[in-house]
Amino acid sequence: MKTTIAQVPKSLGEKVTIGAWLANKRSSGKIAFLQLRDGTGFIQGVVVKSEVSEETFQLAKNMSQESSVYVTGTIVEDSRSPFGFEMQVESIELIHEAVDYPITPKDHGTEFLMDHRHLWLRSKKQHAVMKIRNEIIRATYEFFNDNGYVKIDPPILTGSSAEGTTELFHTKYFDEDAYLSQSGQLYMEAAAMAFGKVFSFGPTFRAEKSKTRRHLIEFWMIEPEMAFVEHAESLEIQENYVSHVVQSVLKNCKLELGVLDRDTAKLEKVKAPFPRISYDDAIALLKEKGFTDIEWGEDFGAPHETAIAEDFDMPVFITNWPKDIKAFYMKPDPNRDDVVLCADLIAPEGYGEIIGGSQRIDDLDLMKQRYEEHGLTGPAYKWYLELSQYGSVPHSGFGLGLERTVAWISGVEHVRETIPFPRLLNRLYP
Ligand code: 4AD
Ligand code: MG
Repeated sequence: MKTTIAQVPKSLGEKVTIGAWLANKRSSGKIAFLQLRDGTGFIQGVVVKSEVSEETFQLAKNMSQESSVYVTGTIVEDSRSPFGFEMQVESIELIHEAVDYPITPKDHGTEFLMDHRHLWLRSKKQHAVMKIRNEIIRATYEFFNDNGYVKIDPPILTGSSAEGTTELFHTKYFDEDAYLSQSGQLYMEAAAMAFGKVFSFGPTFRAEKSKTRRHLIEFWMIEPEMAFVEHAESLEIQENYVSHVVQSVLKNCKLELGVLDRDTAKLEKVKAPFPRISYDDAIALLKEKGFTDIEWGEDFGAPHETAIAEDFDMPVFITNWPKDIKAFYMKPDPNRDDVVLCADLIAPEGYGEIIGGSQRIDDLDLMKQRYEEHGLTGPAYKWYLELSQYGSVPHSGFGLGLERTVAWISGVEHVRETIPFPRLLNRLYP
């Protein structure tokens, strides 16, 4: 019977065939241990010389890394394997012999591995990170579907900017100018007025010249938008969503977290509600912590975010930022016109901002004024303003950066390992 590695627990004691690649092997004169992978998982195949044909044993001993095979054998329990099972191999059919696979079990530099990303994805750690990414996506759809949200897909090609004009990728759209989307938000606001609660999940593009461990040029964002929801309620949705995602990974990715040596005790603690600190208090806290240069009105860099996060063992919301350093669409605090109703959610352990969100302006005149102050004249000036012209309501939304969330939950240092084919400042290959 043909099966997959993920399914072998159902075949205990049975003879099965698995299509696989050879990840690694070790052998002596009498026995060969094959580390096999088939995409669904990893399993050890044990080939005992005295129990197989001479041809099979020679093949097992001499097979090269990443050769593809059909292996047939009996599934037995193995308490030493993290997976709990191994295969006692009876026969091997070589499908294709791989010659000189470039990624060997020795250490390679990051640039080398990045140049071989199309192959590096096969390795155990990269496989675990992508499985966690997949679980985060699954748990995201589950959370929003279970809570009455409709998935809406905003366009990728747009005629104007959503966040700020400096980071736009420009292209021609026949005779017109077009830009790759940096956020679907403005379209999601239109969708919220049509469907109430909506979310999107798609690629976004930022032509920023940033070369940090948190920045990608192309990254994926989850953007919920909710009509009749004010700032405080939006924060509750965010903390419930992030808790659900973290708890789902803990439950469904035990093996992968183990492969990555992730300290899961830190993740176990991530349960709503999350702490909140105002921007004003964050400035005071930073000054106490020795950042004497920072002034009210300045944006935070990675060291500031990390210093604030240090005081909490959960993600922390930094709320009510100065109006002048945030996007034009954020609603001013009704008690103070120098700050806006917004929050950044900062992940623990130095992973930085994973969510940016806010209550949106719902007053037509104020929105017109903000557009003019920012010199925004694109086509959205017309259609976006029409949203507050016809039945405007309080509404809020947020964007969660998938790759930073994967990096944090997986415990990997750099976002380049959290997306299958990263687009970085100096990388468009492979
Ligand atoms: O804070 P940002 O720029 O917010 C927005 O785009 C809003 N329009 C979202 C909304 O309210 N619907 O981006 C949101 C999140 C950040 O918190 C971060 O996690 C991620 O997107 N992000 C990036 N991730 C990787 N590389 C980059 N260059 C990123 N820029 C933002
Ligand atoms: Mg932000």
